[in-house]
Amino acid sequence: MIFGRVKSLDAILLTAERKSLTRTLGAFQLTMLGVGAIIGTGIFVLTAEAAQKAGPGMMLSFIIAGFVCAVAALCYSEMASMVPVSGSAYTYSYAVMGELLAWMVGWALVLEYAVAAGAVSVGWSGYFVGLLREYLGVALPDTIVNADALIAHIQVLFGAAPSEAIQTAIATGGYVNLPAMLIALLVTWLLVVGTKESAFVNAILVMVKIAALTVFVILALPVMNSENFQPFAPLGFGGISAAAASIFFAYVGFDAVSTAAEETKNPQRNMPIGLIGSLALCTIFYILVAAGVIGSVGAQPLVDAAGKGIAPGSTELAAACANIAGEAVVCSKEALAWTLRSIGWQQIGNLIGLAAGIALPSVILMMMFGQTRIFFVMSRDGLLPEKLSKVHPKYGTPHVVTIITGVFVAMFAALFPVGALADISNSGTLFAFAMVAIAVLVLRKTDPNRIRPFRTPAIVVVAPLAVAGCLYLFFSLSWYTLGLFVAWAALGLVVYFAYSRNHSHVGKGLVEVHEPEAYEDLQPPVPGTH
Ligand code: ALA
Repeated sequence: MIFGRVKSLDAILLTAERKSLTRTLGAFQLTMLGVGAIIGTGIFVLTAEAAQKAGPGMMLSFIIAGFVCAVAALCYSEMASMVPVSGSAYTYSYAVMGELLAWMVGWALVLEYAVAAGAVSVGWSGYFVGLLREYLGVALPDTIVNADALIAHIQVLFGAAPSEAIQTAIATGGYVNLPAMLIALLVTWLLVVGTKESAFVNAILVMVKIAALTVFVILALPVMNSENFQPFAPLGFGGISAAAASIFFAYVGFDAVSTAAEETKNPQRNMPIGLIGSLALCTIFYILVAAGVIGSVGAQPLVDAAGKGIAPGSTELAAACANIAGEAVVCSKEALAWTLRSIGWQQIGNLIGLAAGIALPSVILMMMFGQTRIFFVMSRDGLLPEKLSKVHPKYGTPHVVTIITGVFVAMFAALFPVGALADISNSGTLFAFAMVAIAVLVLRKTDPNRIRPFRTPAIVVVAPLAVAGCLYLFFSLSWYTLGLFVAWAALGLVVYFAYSRNHSHVGKGLVEVHEPEAYEDLQPPVPGTH
């Protein structure tokens, strides 16, 4: 039963051909699309969390996470060039491993996209608060820039001892992250009225981000002090693995390239270049930026009385940071701007903050767009109610699903710390990536003669490496995150057996995929197509 209800690959490809979107994207535009989706909260904000988990060893964490993404991207490339249709990992799984596993992948992608949009909103909020302070001298009250006090109250309610850290959080923490919530709602509104990022805007934002990271590296590397790299792994290899699992978030987004397969000229050549090119470019920048942070201001984690690393985002870390007046990069919510200000580049630090403030909303937009697209494809297959993909008569957008997604994203953003959201998002993404790698391998066995425009090199090594890498990072996440993932997956199974299984089009024998008129309005915000 598990592998039953496979959707025929030929039917999927026929659908793609019928749709016949204009193929306008080349390798360069795809790479830009990838970089636009990849660079965001991960490098601008989570660098501080990675430092708190691994110390200078986070350099290794960036390399490990980048390597896992690279092998996963090689598998993605084979699938994306062979099955150039929407739906990404969900569609691939449907064709190869059947409906139940495809459903689980689609369900996990909710974590990847919606929760990630929440994380990027919180990351943006940190920079926005810094910008208000630096440029306008406005200090927003703690009550409305985080939910630390609320979380502390909930911890006490569930029986946590009212430690000093919890008391500090209740006394000084906040109840809602208002800027994060508002940016998520603003992006939702933009998506409802049909805003798409144009080629021009995407190109500008990519330039802004690359310029910001380049300036950072140019200013931070010359003041590097090699002593700051010692001790290299103060919390051992466990810390490095945990940081790799979190910083994996910084690379998420390269799969957005695969969703543009139907609009790509010569996808056989250009998809792999776009996927791997954007990933390679970002990896180089990330490693240089990490070296810049560590070398210039140091990246030693704050530890408790027993010498153990304090969990990022916890009330304990907030209390420890308060004790040192926030004078460590691990305490900063705007790690890169903070680093430059600390080494004497106050105004340029502010400009880096401005770059993040301008560019991060487009990452939120891409993530939320990705979410509505996955829901759209799942409801088109009958696994979710068709009402969800209702298209707005005036704006031509799937407003129902967009608003539902937006409300949830805003709630996540309002209440949770960035690191927790990023970790939860990573759990779903790692699951989906592992499934794609398995699907590629399975398809080589079950359908060896199908034309493969791009063949993953050394598949028998690369695909298992991708699966193993994803599993390794997955199990390096906190037990708390894994618990949430299992609970989410269990809920997914309940929904599948209570609703989706009975409404599935494939289950009803409707192999041909129905394409609503307005489908073309639901294409991704890809440069050059709109
Ligand atoms: N990679 C994206 C970011 O770091 C999700 O914001």
